Amino acid sequence: MTESQVKEVLSTVTYPGFTKDIVTFGFVKGIEIDGGRVAVTVEITSSAPEVKKALEDEIKTKLEMAGASEVIPMIIQPRMPRETSSHGKNIAPQVKNFVMVSSGKGGVGKSTTSVNLAIALAMEGKKVGLLDADIYGPNVPRMMGIEDLRPEVVGNKVKPINAYGVEVMSMGVLMEEGQSLIWRGAMVMKAIEQFLRDILWSDLDVLVIDMPPGTGDAQLTLAQSVPVTAGITVTTPQKVSLDDSRRSLDMFKKLNIPIAGVVENMSGFICPSCGTESDIFGRGTAAAVAAEYDSKLLAQIPIEPAVREGGDEGKPITYHYPESETAKRYMKAAEELWATIEQINEEGGVSNEAIQPTTPPGVSACSTGGHGGGCGH
Ligand SMILES: Nc1ncnc2c1ncn2[C@@H]1O[C@H](COP(=O)(O)OP(=O)(O)OP(=O)(O)O)[C@@H](O)[C@H]1O
Ligand SMILES: [Mg+2]
Repeated sequence: MTESQVKEVLSTVTYPGFTKDIVTFGFVKGIEIDGGRVAVTVEITSSAPEVKKALEDEIKTKLEMAGASEVIPMIIQPRMPRETSSHGKNIAPQVKNFVMVSSGKGGVGKSTTSVNLAIALAMEGKKVGLLDADIYGPNVPRMMGIEDLRPEVVGNKVKPINAYGVEVMSMGVLMEEGQSLIWRGAMVMKAIEQFLRDILWSDLDVLVIDMPPGTGDAQLTLAQSVPVTAGITVTTPQKVSLDDSRRSLDMFKKLNIPIAGVVENMSGFICPSCGTESDIFGRGTAAAVAAEYDSKLLAQIPIEPAVREGGDEGKPITYHYPESETAKRYMKAAEELWATIEQINEEGGVSNEAIQPTTPPGVSACSTGGHGGGCGH
Protein backbone atom coordinates (compact mmCIF):
# COMPACT_ATOMS: atom_id res chain seq x y z
CA MET A 1 0.00 0.00 0.00
CA THR A 2 1.10 3.58 -0.57
CA GLU A 3 0.85 6.40 1.91
CA SER A 4 -1.87 8.16 -0.05
CA GLN A 5 -3.90 4.94 -0.18
CA VAL A 6 -3.57 4.59 3.59
CA LYS A 7 -4.59 8.22 4.05
CA GLU A 8 -7.61 7.71 1.85
CA VAL A 9 -8.74 4.80 3.98
CA LEU A 10 -8.12 6.75 7.20
CA SER A 11 -10.27 9.56 5.79
CA THR A 12 -13.23 7.24 6.15
CA VAL A 13 -12.58 6.62 9.86
CA THR A 14 -14.74 9.00 11.87
CA TYR A 15 -13.83 10.09 15.36
CA PRO A 16 -16.32 8.44 17.73
CA GLY A 17 -19.12 10.82 18.61
CA PHE A 18 -18.39 13.20 15.72
CA THR A 19 -19.13 13.27 12.01
CA LYS A 20 -15.64 14.33 10.93
CA ASP A 21 -12.88 11.83 10.18
CA ILE A 22 -9.52 11.53 11.94
CA VAL A 23 -7.53 12.92 8.99
CA THR A 24 -9.65 16.08 8.79
CA PHE A 25 -9.29 16.53 12.54
CA GLY A 26 -5.51 16.30 12.13
CA PHE A 27 -5.27 13.36 14.53
CA VAL A 28 -3.12 11.20 12.22
CA LYS A 29 0.46 11.87 13.27
CA GLY A 30 2.36 9.19 11.42
CA ILE A 31 2.07 6.48 8.78
CA GLU A 32 4.78 3.87 8.28
CA ILE A 33 4.59 1.30 5.52
CA ASP A 34 6.80 -1.76 5.20
CA GLY A 35 5.50 -3.93 2.40
CA GLY A 36 2.05 -5.07 3.52
CA ARG A 37 2.61 -3.91 7.09
CA VAL A 38 1.12 -0.58 8.04
CA ALA A 39 1.70 1.26 11.31
CA VAL A 40 -0.52 4.24 12.02
CA THR A 41 -0.03 6.72 14.88
CA VAL A 42 -3.14 8.60 15.92
CA GLU A 43 -3.15 11.24 18.66
CA ILE A 44 -6.43 11.82 20.48
CA THR A 45 -7.39 13.88 23.50
CA SER A 46 -9.87 11.41 24.92
CA SER A 47 -8.67 9.07 27.61
CA ALA A 48 -11.81 6.92 27.36
CA PRO A 49 -10.78 3.34 26.61
CA GLU A 50 -13.85 2.75 24.46
CA VAL A 51 -12.86 5.58 22.11
CA LYS A 52 -9.37 4.13 21.77
CA LYS A 53 -10.75 0.64 21.14
CA ALA A 54 -13.30 1.83 18.57
CA LEU A 55 -10.61 3.66 16.62
CA GLU A 56 -8.17 0.76 16.74
CA ASP A 57 -10.81 -1.67 15.48
CA GLU A 58 -12.02 0.54 12.67
CA ILE A 59 -8.51 1.42 11.46
CA LYS A 60 -7.51 -2.23 11.51
CA THR A 61 -10.60 -3.51 9.73
CA LYS A 62 -10.65 -0.86 7.04
CA LEU A 63 -6.91 -1.05 6.24
CA GLU A 64 -7.00 -4.85 6.11
CA MET A 65 -9.96 -4.68 3.76
CA ALA A 66 -7.94 -2.32 1.58
CA GLY A 67 -5.13 -4.87 1.33
CA ALA A 68 -2.78 -4.44 4.31
CA SER A 69 -1.43 -7.75 5.61
CA GLU A 70 -0.74 -6.43 9.09
CA VAL A 71 -2.00 -3.25 10.75
CA ILE A 72 -0.51 -1.72 13.89
CA PRO A 73 -2.70 1.13 15.14
CA MET A 74 -1.00 3.20 17.85
CA ILE A 75 -3.47 5.46 19.62
CA ILE A 76 -1.65 7.97 21.79
CA GLN A 77 -2.74 10.80 24.01
CA PRO A 78 -0.97 14.16 24.18
CA ARG A 79 0.20 15.31 27.59
CA MET A 80 -2.47 17.52 29.06
CA PRO A 81 -1.77 19.94 31.89
CA ARG A 82 -3.05 18.53 35.14
CA GLU A 83 -6.09 20.16 36.70
CA THR A 84 -4.87 22.43 39.47
CA SER A 85 -6.38 23.10 42.88
CA SER A 86 -7.41 26.60 41.77
CA HIS A 87 -8.45 25.64 38.24
CA GLY A 88 -5.94 28.04 36.75
CA LYS A 89 -6.41 30.92 39.17
CA ASN A 90 -3.29 32.41 40.73
CA ILE A 91 -3.40 35.53 42.85
CA ALA A 92 0.37 35.41 43.52
CA PRO A 93 1.70 34.82 40.01
CA GLN A 94 5.29 35.75 40.83
CA VAL A 95 5.56 32.62 42.96
CA LYS A 96 6.50 29.53 40.95
CA ASN A 97 5.54 26.82 43.40
CA PHE A 98 3.34 26.57 46.48
CA VAL A 99 3.85 23.90 49.12
CA MET A 100 1.09 23.40 51.65
CA VAL A 101 2.17 21.90 54.98
CA SER A 102 -0.85 20.35 56.70
CA SER A 103 -1.86 17.90 59.36
CA GLY A 104 -5.05 16.35 60.63
CA LYS A 105 -4.15 17.07 64.25
CA GLY A 106 -2.75 20.06 66.04
CA GLY A 107 0.65 20.17 67.66
CA VAL A 108 2.32 17.49 65.56
CA GLY A 109 5.02 19.80 64.21
CA LYS A 110 3.69 21.57 61.10
CA SER A 111 5.31 24.88 61.97
CA THR A 112 8.59 23.22 62.95
CA THR A 113 8.55 21.30 59.66
CA SER A 114 7.64 24.38 57.60
CA VAL A 115 10.36 26.51 59.18
CA ASN A 116 13.10 23.93 58.79
CA LEU A 117 12.12 22.87 55.27
CA ALA A 118 11.95 26.50 54.14
CA ILE A 119 15.41 27.18 55.58
CA ALA A 120 16.78 23.96 54.09
CA LEU A 121 15.45 24.89 50.65
CA ALA A 122 17.04 28.34 50.98
CA MET A 123 20.33 26.78 52.07
CA GLU A 124 20.16 24.67 48.93
CA GLY A 125 20.04 27.86 46.89
CA LYS A 126 16.33 28.32 46.20
CA LYS A 127 14.45 31.59 46.55
CA VAL A 128 12.08 30.76 49.36
CA GLY A 129 9.14 32.36 51.11
CA LEU A 130 7.43 31.13 54.26
CA LEU A 131 3.82 32.06 54.85
CA ASP A 132 2.30 31.45 58.25
CA ALA A 133 -1.32 30.79 57.34
CA ASP A 134 -2.22 30.02 60.94
CA ILE A 135 -4.22 33.18 61.52
CA TYR A 136 -5.32 32.39 65.08
CA GLY A 137 -2.13 30.82 66.38
CA PRO A 138 0.81 32.18 64.43
CA ASN A 139 3.99 30.50 65.70
CA VAL A 140 6.34 31.15 62.80
CA PRO A 141 7.59 34.58 64.01
CA ARG A 142 8.89 33.13 67.28
CA MET A 143 10.41 30.12 65.54
CA MET A 144 12.14 32.36 63.00
CA GLY A 145 13.26 34.82 65.68
CA ILE A 146 11.39 37.78 64.21
CA GLU A 147 8.54 38.26 66.67
CA ASP A 148 9.77 41.71 67.66
CA LEU A 149 10.11 42.96 64.11
CA ARG A 150 7.42 44.78 62.15
CA PRO A 151 7.31 44.71 58.38
CA GLU A 152 7.81 47.69 56.13
CA VAL A 153 4.65 49.00 54.50
CA VAL A 154 4.99 50.15 50.89
CA GLY A 155 1.88 51.91 49.64
CA ASN A 156 -0.93 49.53 50.40
CA LYS A 157 1.32 46.49 50.35
CA VAL A 158 3.55 44.93 52.97
CA LYS A 159 7.10 43.67 52.56
CA PRO A 160 7.89 40.25 53.99
CA ILE A 161 10.60 40.08 56.66
CA ASN A 162 13.87 38.37 55.81
CA ALA A 163 15.18 35.74 58.19
CA TYR A 164 17.71 32.99 57.54
CA GLY A 165 17.55 33.67 53.82
CA VAL A 166 13.77 33.24 53.76
CA GLU A 167 11.03 35.83 53.14
CA VAL A 168 8.54 35.47 55.98
CA MET A 169 5.04 36.76 56.61
CA SER A 170 2.70 36.03 59.48
CA MET A 171 -0.23 37.54 61.29
CA GLY A 172 2.13 37.51 64.27
CA VAL A 173 4.24 40.34 62.87
CA LEU A 174 1.22 42.33 61.73
CA MET A 175 -0.49 42.52 65.10
CA GLU A 176 0.70 43.63 68.49
CA GLU A 177 2.02 40.93 70.78
CA GLY A 178 -0.59 39.18 72.86
CA GLN A 179 -3.44 40.64 70.86
CA SER A 180 -5.88 37.87 70.24
CA LEU A 181 -7.87 37.59 67.12
CA ILE A 182 -11.51 36.76 67.23
CA TRP A 183 -12.31 36.51 63.61
CA ARG A 184 -15.11 34.86 61.77
CA GLY A 185 -14.53 32.34 59.00
CA ALA A 186 -14.92 34.92 56.26
CA MET A 187 -12.11 36.92 57.77
CA VAL A 188 -9.79 33.91 57.65
CA MET A 189 -10.46 33.61 53.93
CA LYS A 190 -9.85 37.31 53.42
CA ALA A 191 -6.63 37.18 55.43
CA ILE A 192 -5.27 34.26 53.40
CA GLU A 193 -6.09 36.04 50.16
CA GLN A 194 -4.38 39.20 51.38
CA PHE A 195 -1.32 37.23 52.44
CA LEU A 196 -0.99 36.06 48.86
CA ARG A 197 -2.03 39.19 47.01
CA ASP A 198 -0.93 42.12 49.17
CA ILE A 199 2.44 40.90 50.39
CA LEU A 200 5.40 41.91 48.24
CA TRP A 201 6.80 38.43 47.72
CA SER A 202 9.64 38.41 45.24
CA ASP A 203 9.89 36.00 42.34
CA LEU A 204 10.03 32.97 44.57
CA ASP A 205 10.97 29.45 43.51
CA VAL A 206 8.77 28.20 46.28
CA LEU A 207 6.44 29.49 48.97
CA VAL A 208 6.14 27.13 51.93
CA ILE A 209 2.79 27.58 53.66
CA ASP A 210 2.35 26.58 57.29
CA MET A 211 -1.33 25.77 57.75
CA PRO A 212 -3.48 25.69 60.86
CA PRO A 213 -4.41 22.13 61.87
CA GLY A 214 -7.26 20.35 60.18
CA THR A 215 -9.08 20.77 56.92
CA GLY A 216 -11.05 23.99 57.06
CA ASP A 217 -11.58 27.36 55.42
CA ALA A 218 -7.91 28.29 55.37
CA GLN A 219 -6.99 25.16 53.41
CA LEU A 220 -9.85 25.60 51.00
CA THR A 221 -9.19 29.29 50.38
CA LEU A 222 -5.51 28.70 49.76
CA ALA A 223 -6.22 25.85 47.35
CA GLN A 224 -8.72 27.96 45.43
CA SER A 225 -6.54 31.06 45.23
CA VAL A 226 -3.32 29.56 43.89
CA PRO A 227 -2.38 26.35 42.08
CA VAL A 228 -0.87 24.45 45.01
CA THR A 229 2.06 22.48 43.60
CA ALA A 230 2.44 19.97 46.40
CA GLY A 231 1.07 19.03 49.80
CA ILE A 232 2.99 17.68 52.77
CA THR A 233 1.29 16.03 55.71
CA VAL A 234 2.98 16.05 59.08
CA THR A 235 2.12 13.33 61.57
CA THR A 236 3.52 11.73 64.68
CA PRO A 237 3.88 7.94 64.73
CA GLN A 238 0.96 7.22 67.09
CA LYS A 239 -2.14 5.62 65.62
CA VAL A 240 -4.42 8.51 66.58
CA SER A 241 -2.25 10.96 64.71
CA LEU A 242 -1.93 8.65 61.70
CA ASP A 243 -5.71 8.29 61.49
CA ASP A 244 -6.02 12.06 61.39
CA SER A 245 -3.26 12.35 58.81
CA ARG A 246 -5.44 10.41 56.37
CA ARG A 247 -7.97 13.23 56.55
CA SER A 248 -5.31 15.67 55.52
CA LEU A 249 -4.17 13.39 52.68
CA ASP A 250 -7.77 12.89 51.55
CA MET A 251 -8.17 16.65 51.49
CA PHE A 252 -5.14 17.00 49.19
CA LYS A 253 -6.70 14.46 46.85
CA LYS A 254 -10.07 16.19 46.84
CA LEU A 255 -8.49 19.56 46.19
CA ASN A 256 -6.32 18.34 43.28
CA ILE A 257 -3.13 18.88 45.25
CA PRO A 258 -0.34 16.45 44.37
CA ILE A 259 1.01 14.80 47.53
CA ALA A 260 4.76 15.34 47.94
CA GLY A 261 4.94 13.12 51.00
CA VAL A 262 4.53 12.56 54.70
CA VAL A 263 6.85 13.79 57.43
CA GLU A 264 6.91 11.55 60.48
CA ASN A 265 7.76 13.92 63.30
CA MET A 266 8.66 13.02 66.89
CA SER A 267 9.78 9.73 65.46
CA GLY A 268 11.99 8.15 68.08
CA PHE A 269 14.13 10.12 70.50
CA ILE A 270 17.75 11.15 70.21
CA CYS A 271 19.29 11.34 73.66
CA PRO A 272 21.17 14.63 73.89
CA SER A 273 23.87 13.22 76.15
CA CYS A 274 24.67 9.91 74.50
CA GLY A 275 23.18 10.34 71.01
CA THR A 276 21.34 7.00 71.20
CA GLU A 277 18.05 6.84 69.34
CA SER A 278 15.14 5.20 71.15
CA ASP A 279 11.40 4.88 70.54
CA ILE A 280 9.01 6.98 72.60
CA PHE A 281 5.91 7.55 70.52
CA GLY A 282 6.99 4.76 68.21
CA ARG A 283 8.67 5.00 64.87
CA GLY A 284 8.17 4.03 61.24
CA THR A 285 4.38 3.85 61.15
CA ALA A 286 3.85 6.74 58.73
CA ALA A 287 5.48 4.94 55.80
CA ALA A 288 2.45 2.70 55.36
CA VAL A 289 0.09 5.69 55.31
CA ALA A 290 2.29 7.45 52.74
CA ALA A 291 2.19 4.32 50.60
CA GLU A 292 -1.60 4.16 50.81
CA TYR A 293 -1.64 7.51 49.02
CA ASP A 294 1.05 6.60 46.48
CA SER A 295 3.40 9.02 48.13
CA LYS A 296 6.54 8.70 50.18
CA LEU A 297 7.93 9.26 53.60
CA LEU A 298 9.86 12.51 53.22
CA ALA A 299 11.57 12.35 56.58
CA GLN A 300 11.56 10.84 60.04
CA ILE A 301 12.43 13.60 62.47
CA PRO A 302 13.28 12.40 65.96
CA ILE A 303 12.25 14.11 69.17
CA GLU A 304 15.27 16.18 69.90
CA PRO A 305 15.46 18.83 72.61
CA ALA A 306 17.46 21.04 70.21
CA VAL A 307 14.46 21.11 67.86
CA ARG A 308 12.17 22.50 70.53
CA GLU A 309 14.80 24.86 71.90
CA GLY A 310 15.48 26.06 68.38
CA GLY A 311 11.76 26.72 67.97
CA ASP A 312 11.40 28.52 71.28
CA GLU A 313 14.51 30.64 70.83
CA GLY A 314 14.08 31.45 67.17
CA LYS A 315 17.16 29.46 66.23
CA PRO A 316 16.03 26.74 63.84
CA ILE A 317 18.11 23.59 64.06
CA THR A 318 18.70 23.34 60.32
CA TYR A 319 20.44 26.73 60.29
CA HIS A 320 22.12 26.72 63.68
CA TYR A 321 23.17 23.07 63.97
CA PRO A 322 23.57 21.97 60.35
CA GLU A 323 25.79 19.10 61.44
CA SER A 324 23.09 17.54 63.64
CA GLU A 325 21.37 14.39 62.47
CA THR A 326 18.01 16.18 62.44
CA ALA A 327 19.29 19.07 60.32
CA LYS A 328 20.69 16.57 57.83
CA ARG A 329 17.32 14.88 57.63
CA TYR A 330 15.60 18.20 56.94
CA MET A 331 18.16 18.96 54.24
CA LYS A 332 17.58 15.59 52.62
CA ALA A 333 13.80 16.02 52.84
CA ALA A 334 14.11 19.44 51.18
CA GLU A 335 16.15 17.92 48.36
CA GLU A 336 13.56 15.23 47.84
CA LEU A 337 10.76 17.75 48.03
CA TRP A 338 12.40 19.87 45.35
CA ALA A 339 12.92 16.84 43.10
CA THR A 340 9.25 15.98 43.55
CA ILE A 341 8.18 19.54 42.72
CA GLU A 342 10.21 19.41 39.52
CA GLN A 343 8.69 16.07 38.65
CA ILE A 344 5.16 17.32 39.31
CA ASN A 345 5.76 20.33 37.08
CA GLU A 346 7.28 18.21 34.36
CA GLU A 347 4.48 15.69 34.38
CA GLY A 348 1.55 17.93 34.98
CA GLY A 349 2.44 21.40 33.80
CA VAL A 350 1.07 22.74 37.06
CA SER A 351 3.75 25.38 37.65
CA ASN A 352 3.30 28.97 36.69
CA GLU A 353 5.18 28.38 33.51
CA ALA A 354 2.21 26.18 32.73
CA ILE A 355 1.54 24.93 29.27
CA GLN A 356 -1.74 25.77 27.60
CA PRO A 357 -4.00 22.83 26.82
CA THR A 358 -3.30 21.45 23.37
CA THR A 359 -6.71 20.98 21.86
CA PRO A 360 -6.64 19.51 18.39
CA PRO A 361 -8.14 21.68 15.67
CA GLY A 362 -11.86 21.43 15.30
CA VAL A 363 -12.40 19.52 18.52
CA SER A 364 -12.47 22.44 20.90
CA ALA A 365 -16.11 23.16 20.12
CA CYS A 366 -18.18 20.45 21.69
CA SER A 367 -20.88 21.12 19.15
CA THR A 368 -18.65 19.89 16.32
CA GLY A 369 -20.51 17.19 14.52
CA GLY A 370 -23.56 18.19 16.47
CA HIS A 371 -24.87 14.82 17.52
CA GLY A 372 -25.61 13.15 20.74
CA GLY A 373 -22.16 11.69 21.51
CA GLY A 374 -21.08 14.89 23.25
CA CYS A 375 -17.47 15.83 23.73
CA GLY A 376 -16.27 12.58 25.21
CA HIS A 377 -12.97 14.15 26.20
N1 LIG B 1 11.04 16.77 66.51
C1 LIG B 1 10.80 17.51 67.57
N2 LIG B 1 11.56 17.39 68.70
C2 LIG B 1 11.31 18.16 69.79
N3 LIG B 1 10.33 19.06 69.86
C3 LIG B 1 9.55 19.22 68.77
C4 LIG B 1 9.73 18.47 67.58
N4 LIG B 1 8.81 18.86 66.66
C5 LIG B 1 8.06 19.81 67.25
N5 LIG B 1 8.50 20.04 68.51
C6 LIG B 1 7.95 20.99 69.46
O1 LIG B 1 6.57 20.65 69.64
C7 LIG B 1 5.76 21.82 69.73
C8 LIG B 1 4.69 21.78 68.63
O2 LIG B 1 5.31 21.88 67.37
P1 LIG B 1 4.73 22.83 66.22
O3 LIG B 1 4.36 24.14 66.78
O4 LIG B 1 5.69 22.79 65.11
O5 LIG B 1 3.41 22.01 65.85
P2 LIG B 1 2.19 22.46 64.93
O6 LIG B 1 1.69 21.24 64.27
O7 LIG B 1 2.58 23.59 64.08
O8 LIG B 1 1.17 22.95 66.01
P3 LIG B 1 -0.22 23.77 65.79
O9 LIG B 1 -1.20 22.73 65.32
O10 LIG B 1 -0.52 24.32 67.11
O11 LIG B 1 0.05 24.80 64.73
C9 LIG B 1 6.72 22.99 69.60
O12 LIG B 1 7.06 23.45 70.87
C10 LIG B 1 7.93 22.41 68.92
O13 LIG B 1 9.13 23.08 69.25
MG1 LIG C 1 1.71 25.54 63.87
